Amino acid sequence: MIILSIESSCDETAVAILEIINQKFKVLANFVASQINIHKKYGGVVPEVAARKHLENMLPILDKAMKQAKIKQEDIDAIGVVYGPGLITSLIVGVETAKTLAMVWNKPLIPVNHVKAHILANYLKGDQGELEDIKYPALCLVVSGGHTSLVLLNDPNNFKTIGSTRDDAVGEAFDKAAKIMGLGYPGGPIISKHAANADKDFYKLPRPMIYSKDFDFSFSGLKTAVRNEWEKVRFQDEKAIRNMCAAFQQASIDVLVAKTLRAAEKYEVKSLLLGGGVAANKELRKQLSAQAAAKLPQVKFFQPDLHLTTDNALMVAVAAYFEAQHGLNRFSESWRNVKVDPNLNI
Ligand code: KG4
Ligand code: ZN
Repeated sequence: MIILSIESSCDETAVAILEIINQKFKVLANFVASQINIHKKYGGVVPEVAARKHLENMLPILDKAMKQAKIKQEDIDAIGVVYGPGLITSLIVGVETAKTLAMVWNKPLIPVNHVKAHILANYLKGDQGELEDIKYPALCLVVSGGHTSLVLLNDPNNFKTIGSTRDDAVGEAFDKAAKIMGLGYPGGPIISKHAANADKDFYKLPRPMIYSKDFDFSFSGLKTAVRNEWEKVRFQDEKAIRNMCAAFQQASIDVLVAKTLRAAEKYEVKSLLLGGGVAANKELRKQLSAQAAAKLPQVKFFQPDLHLTTDNALMVAVAAYFEAQHGLNRFSESWRNVKVDPNLNI
């Protein structure tokens, strides 16, 4: 099966072409046109600008992907596209492109949930090989700019959210904390870079909801704590900034790791997964994998390759592949009905 996939839910325009035959996959193309440099000057994503850039970037990267994959439209079995959640004006560009291709080429169109795609990115390692052997039930910690949740999976098509953030997503908190300190956008990579080799215990920050009995999160209080501390120290040197970054990063990780392990234990899962843009954070990867190995040695830990943590279209192709396992017939002429859903739930 060859799947062409499209992602445009926020500020990355992405197209991928993935071949999967008998559990063996091969990446034929994978392109992401990032708009970070454009949104940087505004300190965050400007939806109208993002949508216009998606329009500019979409056809050129589609063309590049088809050329690199060396395939013709006849070779494509299905088209996968993210239809939500995300920014409505951004989503529309990817969805309308995919619908047009599906109509003109007469292909099944598989609508994909962006968050599910982040989770299923865990099936790929490298550019080709066997799909990862994820055993179920599995638990995924989803951490991105828009989401922070714990999702239980009984199979690759069966998802249930058991907890989520009550206010800011953790990626959003990284972005806002960086903004408070005047460090630029996006905050996640900048904070993690500054945090390296700094003293994470110099500033004392709260661990919101770490002991709550549910699996919900809250990150807006942590962001406010950074602001309060920052008011006191802002005129100090580079070292103060680095220590604050390390303190913030560690406080976030402590809460994420503690709650994830508790949920994994309670639901007796066989696999633990990590997904979303914040899964690029090296300390989170290291600490979650080490603590999972120490406390739950029977649980196998998976994390996506670094380039598949932030938004991309390969993860969309994998999600479309699993949807297609129940038969492609139900997606024939589906371009007629696919509609964007900016608030789509799992
Ligand atoms: O998944 P993603 O690309 O877009 C959404 O679906 O939201 O995630 C983007 C988020 C941003 O908030 C960004 O700051 C964060 O992921 N991020 C990181 C790192 N790299 C990206 N957060 C912490 N550490 C990182 N290294
Ligand atoms: Zn995302």
